[in-house]
Amino acid sequence: MTPKKTYEQMRSARWMVPDDQRSFGHRSRTMQMGYDPEDWEGRPIVAILNTWSDAQPCHVHFKDRVEWVRRGILQAGGFPMELPALSLSENFVKPTTMLYRNLLAMEAEELLRSHPVDGAVLMGGCDKTTPALIMGALSMGLPFVFLPAGPMLRGNYAGKYLGSGTDGFKYWDERRAGTISKEEWQGIEGGIARSYGHCMTMGTASTMTAIAEAMGLSLPGASSIPAADAGHQRMSTQCGRRVVEMIWEDLTPEKIVTPAAVENAVTVAMATGCSTNAIIHVIAMARRAGIPLELDDLDRIGRTTPVIANIRPSGSNYLMEDFYYAGGLRALMKQLGDKLDSSAITVTGRSLTDGLEAVKIWNEDVIRPLTNPVYHEGSLAVLKGNLCPDGAVIKPAACDPKFHRHKGPALVADSYAELKKIIDDPDYPLTPDTVLVLRNAGPQGGPGMPEWGMIPMPKALLKLGLRDMMRISDARMSGTSFGACVLHAAPEAYVGGPLALLRTGDTVEVDIPARSLNMLVPDDELAARRAAWTPPPQRYGRGYGLMFSKHVEQADKGCDFDFLKTDFGPPVDEPAI
Ligand code: FES
Ligand code: MG
Repeated sequence: MTPKKTYEQMRSARWMVPDDQRSFGHRSRTMQMGYDPEDWEGRPIVAILNTWSDAQPCHVHFKDRVEWVRRGILQAGGFPMELPALSLSENFVKPTTMLYRNLLAMEAEELLRSHPVDGAVLMGGCDKTTPALIMGALSMGLPFVFLPAGPMLRGNYAGKYLGSGTDGFKYWDERRAGTISKEEWQGIEGGIARSYGHCMTMGTASTMTAIAEAMGLSLPGASSIPAADAGHQRMSTQCGRRVVEMIWEDLTPEKIVTPAAVENAVTVAMATGCSTNAIIHVIAMARRAGIPLELDDLDRIGRTTPVIANIRPSGSNYLMEDFYYAGGLRALMKQLGDKLDSSAITVTGRSLTDGLEAVKIWNEDVIRPLTNPVYHEGSLAVLKGNLCPDGAVIKPAACDPKFHRHKGPALVADSYAELKKIIDDPDYPLTPDTVLVLRNAGPQGGPGMPEWGMIPMPKALLKLGLRDMMRISDARMSGTSFGACVLHAAPEAYVGGPLALLRTGDTVEVDIPARSLNMLVPDDELAARRAAWTPPPQRYGRGYGLMFSKHVEQADKGCDFDFLKTDFGPPVDEPAI
């Protein structure tokens, strides 16, 4: 490690060194916490942004892991400062964590800005925490390492593996179809999440931590280590040690998150099977780094990147624990070969591809070679047409191929309550080719774009033995979901996107190979409907919700707040001390 700056040039030195009354206060208050001057003098101060809370099952172990991070920071000659941040549990936060992703991003940025810190370890993993912490830290620009929570162990019930989310949805359909008893259902409930860590399917959490690693923001291999593996403690300590070096080396994130790093992240995401949510987050993250990533870029990379991680829900049998034993994300990167751009560096200061030759792939059924993929193209397709001029997404690998080209009559629900009536009525008149549409569930309409896009199968179709149908919404769906679900239709209906003009009975045509989604309604008829459309009332009259409604961007732009964008106004000054 070659230092690029002196201690006096550290940001924290502005707080801790001057011989004045303010700094007297900072020093005396540090001593109040039990520290001697030699604990901090000459040492960079490292923030640990910890998203632990009693309402965050995926981060239960962060209460312990933070001690391992602290240990690494101390070993490397830094001074740790743990700063708790919003924990954003997917399970408990309502109406949806997506409403609060940007709040955590703002919190992360401002925690770093307002405190005497020179760099940070970001502790996240449950879906939104990864993009939120990274978005905030990118905007602040201090050296940081992202510490992923790690996936939980495989679920287990009656000798069968259970996958987070995916099997919950699957067995719930069976329960509604009456094929599962109450006792079996309770057994599944107790077995599906049996250790700390984030969801262990290739859902949003696993995709996002893979993206963070492929973007160069985690230590190599970190994202695949199961939360309950002792390797996770060791990795936590390594993060602490490494960030101190990065501070001395002045390895700031703009040197890491380049266009090449973003392309690598998207390539890796596509090869993993990629949660649809990841599209929104990776766009938002790239834009915070000043890189104008578009949906079309994702589609372009997707078309030439096969899915090679055979993990549910895109793959058939395996879960993240198997992925780790098969070699983890580094093994997947090795399989990708020259699809990765070696000019991108990571938090190590070295190329992303450095050392990949030596990586072993232990199970080529789990981490497939490019010649034997799970799915021949990347797992996401971007559709455009008169229903979604700014785009919509679908996961072709996770739906019945007979829906890749589909035409059928629309059945439109304006709200989730209305939708529930349709899906819970065993005699509702619909047919296997019905296109079930949910609107007013986007960024503003939801509000916060809830994960309602995997609309449960209507009882009337379950009764016929059907388990998939074409569904369209401006909502998101859980990354662990599956089925023929077109999502993120933009602009959303609530702000007057053309989805607002669709009527029950109109014919809708989806063509995934042609990347199109249209309603077969004449233009003059659409113009008449547009003229008759009135905007719904704004959802919030005060508070955070009002700020959200005024500033959130549409899904194709990453749902960031407009005023948080890199090019929105002049840079923010360092705080006066
Ligand atoms: Fe936390 Fe799925 S609930 S990652
Ligand atoms: Mg999720």
